[in-house]
Amino acid sequence: MSKKALITGITGQDGAYLAKFLLSKGYQVVGAFRRSSIVNVSRLDYLGITDQVEMAPFDVTDMGNIIGVLGKVRPNELYNLAAQSFVAASFDQPIATGEITGLGAARVLEAVRLVNPKIKYYQASSSEMFGKVQSMPQNETTPFYPHSPYAVAKLYAHWMTVNYREAYNIFACSGILFNHESPLRGIEFVTRKITRAAAQIKKGLVNQLSLGNLDAKRDWGYAPEYVEAMWLMLQQEQPDDYVIATGETHSVKEFVEEAFGCLDLDWRKYVVVDPAFFRPAEVDVLMGDASKAGNKLGWQPRTTFKDLVRLMTDADMAASSMERACIR
Ligand code: NAP
Ligand code: GDD
Repeated sequence: MSKKALITGITGQDGAYLAKFLLSKGYQVVGAFRRSSIVNVSRLDYLGITDQVEMAPFDVTDMGNIIGVLGKVRPNELYNLAAQSFVAASFDQPIATGEITGLGAARVLEAVRLVNPKIKYYQASSSEMFGKVQSMPQNETTPFYPHSPYAVAKLYAHWMTVNYREAYNIFACSGILFNHESPLRGIEFVTRKITRAAAQIKKGLVNQLSLGNLDAKRDWGYAPEYVEAMWLMLQQEQPDDYVIATGETHSVKEFVEEAFGCLDLDWRKYVVVDPAFFRPAEVDVLMGDASKAGNKLGWQPRTTFKDLVRLMTDADMAASSMERACIR
């Protein structure tokens, strides 16, 4: 009998890559998706796996629905990726972000406890929880200092995961993942916003890119490698929490220079700084130390910063604007 995995947030970047990875491992994959006026399976389509994923209507704000889905699907492993994941939006919608990103995880954990506490649970925690960083680089022992409503909600979900592990002996792991990107990244996030705009400028479709804080620094990795770490965490003898990162940090400006450089464009001619994209509280720098994951999971990042920028820029150049419009 193959193992069955339930992935919440199946329509997002990580949900799609994780589904593809688990299918390659022989898993039966059920994708939990939020009902909307249009079913958004564009990322699953892009990876060519839509027909292989069974879909289950699911909303992390609806406890009865979560219990129903867990009872019906009966997964061996549950990857809780569903979230309002855009930090900037969390300042405009702090309560909705708390409901979905924070309490949503608590509801899923509680449903695991009630329906079947043997389900192995993965929580999508975030480097954003380190926020106003207390030391460099950040690892599993670095104190948290969340600096956005999103980060505060993620920190609640993180501690609930630890609490359900310690209180109820649930195999619950928290992956503290640093930023990870890909051609499937949402277009509002800075990396994809940059590679998409650079390609559009090269094609003569637009002539300007408005950005916010060019000095912010992030530890950017490649998403398909990061979902492998999620799976590895659930295959260990004991549940635990792990930082997943490249160990390098680069500024938004460096990302811009690299992406425009890939297309032989001088970024200074096109990029303007618009205060509208600054945040009420910023995370200035993130840089992770993933040596615990290296030692215990055997996980290592494989894609360099330059290769990441290149592959995202190439993807935005290669596809027609119609095709790329679908990947939002
Ligand atoms: P994403 O592309 O924004 O995907 C988020 C997913 O959550 C989407 O499928 C979305 O569905 C779903 N969702 C939102 N509200 C929901 C609700 N009420 N009920 C059910 N599903 C809901 O995010 P991602 O980049 O794949 O990230 C996956 C997870 O990892 C998120 O929890 C994120 O916060 C976390 N994380 C991401 C990174 C990163 O760098 N990518 C780093 C650390 C942690 P719709 O398609 O309907 O909106
Ligand atoms: N989105 C965006 N748009 N960000 C900009 C812009 C812009 O025009 N200009 C500068 N930035 C800066 C932001 O201020 C931030 O410092 C940095 O670029 C990265 O922003 P995002 O790409 O939106 O990602 P994030 O780091 O805030 O959050 C992502 O990574 C987290 C992990 O650390 C998201 O994926 C979160 O869900 C995830 O938890």
